[in-house]
Amino acid sequence: MESSDDLNWPTQKGTLVINARNDGSVSTGILHAARILKEGGLVAFPTETVYGLGADALNGEAVARIFAVKGRPTDNPLIVHIDAVSHLKSLAVNIPSEAYALARRFWPGPLTLVLESARVVPPETTGGLDTVALRIPQHPVALELIRAAAVPVAGPSANLSGRPSPTTAQHVLDDLSGSIDAVLDGGPCEVGVESTVLDIRGGEPLLLRPGGVTREEISALLGRECRLPSWQDDSAAPPPSPGLKYTHYSPRAPLYLVNGHPAAVLARLQVLAQHYSERGKKVGLLISSENVGAVACEHMEVLGSRHDPAAQAVVLFAALRRFDEQGVDVILAEGYPEDGVGLAVMNRLRKAAGHRIIDVK
Ligand code: TXA
Ligand code: MG
Repeated sequence: MESSDDLNWPTQKGTLVINARNDGSVSTGILHAARILKEGGLVAFPTETVYGLGADALNGEAVARIFAVKGRPTDNPLIVHIDAVSHLKSLAVNIPSEAYALARRFWPGPLTLVLESARVVPPETTGGLDTVALRIPQHPVALELIRAAAVPVAGPSANLSGRPSPTTAQHVLDDLSGSIDAVLDGGPCEVGVESTVLDIRGGEPLLLRPGGVTREEISALLGRECRLPSWQDDSAAPPPSPGLKYTHYSPRAPLYLVNGHPAAVLARLQVLAQHYSERGKKVGLLISSENVGAVACEHMEVLGSRHDPAAQAVVLFAALRRFDEQGVDVILAEGYPEDGVGLAVMNRLRKAAGHRIIDVK
C-alpha cells in the first residue's frame, strides 16, 4: 500500500485522515481510499446514518479484519453497501417484487434489505447465514467510494463493538485510530441512527432493526403492517437477526431509562438525580428540550424536542459519547413516544440501558 508520506493527509496513530468535505481534494482522497479498499485495507466512510467501517465485501480476509479491529462477534453479519439497484440481482436470489418497490422508494437511503444470498458474498461477511443484507447509502462520499472501488463494500458502524455508533470522523478515530488504514471525513452524519433492517424474503416483512426509514413509511408503501420480531433474549431459538442478541450503544456509565407518562417520568428523574448526587455520584442527564431545567443536574445533554424524534436521533450517539468524556458515574435518560423515528431512538436507548429500564405510570 502507498505510504502516507506520499500524500498530504495527516495521520492519527498511523490512520490516514482524508478530508472528504467539499474541497478540491475530494476526489483524489476518495480514489486513494478506494485503492486501499481494493488492496484489502479498511477505510471508515461517512454515510447519512452513521460512519461505516468499509472493506471489500468479497474479500473474506479483509472482512475478517473488520471483526478483529471492532472486537465484533463473528456470527454478527455485515451490511453490504452497493451503489445501484442493478447489483441486487448479482448478490441476492429470489428477490420479491416488494424489495424492488422498497428500493425504488427508499434508496439511496437508510433502509437495509435482508434477502436470500446468491452466495457470491463470502461467509465472513454474512456470518455464515444464507441471507445477505444490502443497502445503497445516501451520502455522496459513500457512493463515490463504492463506485471508485467497483466492489460491494461491507460496512458495520465504525465503532468498537458495544460502543455508541460514530456520527463524526473524530468518533471513529476515538475508537479505531491506529487499527484501520484510513477514515474519510465527510462531516457529521445527517440521520444519526443506523439504517432500518428489514427482512423482505417473502411472507410477512419483518422489521429486524428500526432506523432512519420508519415502520409507518414501510407499511404505507407495502399496504400492510410490517411485523416487529417477538424474539426475547432468553429464548432458546436463534434470533431472526444476530444483532438482536448483542448489547450495543453502551456508554461507559450505567444508563437508566425512565419511561411512561411524561409527568411521572420527570418526577422519577428528579428523585433519581437527587439520590445519586447525594451519594457523591457524578450524574449525567439525557433530557428533551421541553424538560430542560425541570431536573437539577450538573451534566446535561439536551436531545431536542420530544415531538421531533428525527432531530433527537441526529444528536443521540454524540451525547452518549460526551457523557463518557465527562466521566459521569451514572446516566439518567427520559423515555419518549415510539412513533416514527422515535421507535429507533427508543430502541437505541433501550439497548444502551440493557436491563436498567424503569417503567413508571
Ligand atoms: O446505517 C447502517 O446500517 C450502518 C451504516 C454504516 O450503513 N451500518 C450498520 O451496520 O449499522 P452494523 O453492522 O452496525 O449493523 C448491522 C445490523 C446488525 O444488527 C446485524 O445483525 C444485522 O444488521 N444484519 C446484517 N446482515 C444480516 C442478515 N443477513 N440477516 C439479519 N440481520 C443482519
Ligand atoms: Mg453497529
